[in-house]
Amino acid sequence: MIAISKPSTGPEEMRAVEKVFETGWLGLGSTVYDFEETLKKYLGAKNVIAVNTGTSAIHIALAGLGVGPGDEVILPSITFAACVQSILALGAVPVFAESHEENLLLDIDDVKKRITPKTKAVMPVHFCGNPCDLDALKALATKHGFKIVEDAAHAFGSEYKGAKIGTHGDAVCFSFDPIKNITTGEGGAVALADDKIAEDIRRLRLLGIDKDTWHRYKNARTYIYEVVSPGFRYHMPNFCAAVGLEQMKKLPKFIARRREIAKRYDAAFKSVPGVTILDVDYATVAPHIYMVRVPAEDRDAFMESLKAKGVGTGLHYIANHIQPFFKKYVRGPLPRAERLWQELVTLPLHCELSDMDVETVISAVTAFRGAKTAA
Ligand SMILES: Cc1ncc(COP(=O)(O)O)c(C=O)c1O
Repeated sequence: MIAISKPSTGPEEMRAVEKVFETGWLGLGSTVYDFEETLKKYLGAKNVIAVNTGTSAIHIALAGLGVGPGDEVILPSITFAACVQSILALGAVPVFAESHEENLLLDIDDVKKRITPKTKAVMPVHFCGNPCDLDALKALATKHGFKIVEDAAHAFGSEYKGAKIGTHGDAVCFSFDPIKNITTGEGGAVALADDKIAEDIRRLRLLGIDKDTWHRYKNARTYIYEVVSPGFRYHMPNFCAAVGLEQMKKLPKFIARRREIAKRYDAAFKSVPGVTILDVDYATVAPHIYMVRVPAEDRDAFMESLKAKGVGTGLHYIANHIQPFFKKYVRGPLPRAERLWQELVTLPLHCELSDMDVETVISAVTAFRGAKTAA
């Protein structure tokens, strides 16, 4: 079966992890700080805080920007459940909004209709790596005084208006889980410009403690620490950062290969009846997942037919507003999200795909549509 996603790791990552184990310092320490510096330089970001998952990045980014009980956070219904849970974990209220059908990005006009005096933040997701309209969102944020927390889990390496994603919003959250554009095994990071909020988020990742163990033991050699704020145990450990540092060396090749495959799919599918490709400009996008839309009534048969040909498919994502635990937060109808999620299919995209795998995916997709047309 051709998997939809797969990490690309090799002996370099294994050796880097081994080296960390040889030091005996596995937790938060110098390798994490090196990784943060590397990310800062790559993104052009002022501050980067590495954490243990993309979900915790979102959680502490929201907390650091002051989102708390009763505050409202607007986000697309079609996104990962992690975003919704992070909002709820702070006692805040998720407000679901529509996405554009041509690219699955947050519909800013729909956001406008959902703003209230309680709106504290808006969380767009750069779906498939494709940046949302940040200029329009920033204009709205200035007018209404809310924060922008970008969910850039899909968009590590993508650019918006000549600058890397990671330099635009009030806080930008990345995921480095096993299938992302780079992986640290599991991991994430928050990138942001504001030094003071960055300090707060740094403490939020480590139980509200003013100095981490590495700096106390290695530099100051003091056992004294103070707990000065709320906090969680969300830091990235050294052995994960070691994997990340190796992945960063491979990133240009990863992005080039992902773009090559996505563009090959686009070229093959754009004229296939009943298959709609997303509107993505791969010149500036580092693609994470590749999705097409098919008519809702065909979707399950389409996925089954690909499976029968050895091609794995996925679904990103079931609309959150219909999830049993989230539906009580629905405010106002979401007809587009309701229909759209039923049309989505994710096809294999990762750097372990051979050219032959890519052609197998393409013929499986075209064969299904061919059979449909003949029927
Ligand atoms: C859109 C989106 N947001 C957030 C996350 C959460 O990241 P993590 O899995 O690292 O917690 C993911 C991960 O799949 C994601 O795809």
